[in-house]
Amino acid sequence: MLPRHIGIIMDGNGRWARQRGLQRTDGHRAGIQTIRKVMQAADRAGVHHLTLYAFSTENWSRPAEEVGALMGLFEETLAKEVDELDASGVQIRVIGRRGPLTTGLRRLIDAAEARTRGNRTGMLCVAINYGGRAEIVDAVRSLAQGGADLARVDEAELAGALYTAGLPDPDLIIRTAGEHRMSNFLIWQAAYAELHVSPTLWPDFGERELELALQDFAARQRRFGGVAG
Ligand code: FPP
Repeated sequence: MLPRHIGIIMDGNGRWARQRGLQRTDGHRAGIQTIRKVMQAADRAGVHHLTLYAFSTENWSRPAEEVGALMGLFEETLAKEVDELDASGVQIRVIGRRGPLTTGLRRLIDAAEARTRGNRTGMLCVAINYGGRAEIVDAVRSLAQGGADLARVDEAELAGALYTAGLPDPDLIIRTAGEHRMSNFLIWQAAYAELHVSPTLWPDFGERELELALQDFAARQRRFGGVAG
């Protein structure tokens, strides 16, 4: 079986850079090349929905220089890649709290989303200033502001108020660089997801590692809380 939607916690850019005597930012730059490779490999394998964890609500505590460099990379990459993604029929969606992002980045995000809204071949969802708990809080707030009867709210209604409304839940979460943690990523949506941890650092991750993750996924018996079939 193939996952329909894969969420990826892209970890290990810093370690990759340190091993080479480079700056952490060089690791993030290399990580962007990996995103390209992995998107293409996922597409070839038949997986058309990807969500990438690019920046968490906790990542603001990194040195200001690194945070600034990451924001610059997001801007640069969005500006550079949107044409090709759009031409390939990929819909771009950015999830997370946008308030603290720079005006320039917010504009680029709005433009990329508006431009690719009608695309249906694939979906690239990028989590920037994202936290799973913050997302649930934001969903409850937006339901309350919309006049919902919170005493009667159900799972479908809450899911419909999340940033990911309309997206299939991820079936598989891949985390690179060896740690077995969810780190506040898609905590609602990944309730029944399979977790695959790869020892490979994100900049070194590629088609072979993706294939291993897909094989691992295919070998799991998914039960959704029921009994094995
Ligand atoms: C984790 O490695 C990686 C990040 C916090 C940033 C990931 C961002 C990118 C690859 C750029 C994505 C860009 C777009 C436009 C989607 P780490 O720094 O935590 O590595 P370490 O654990 O080895 O220190």
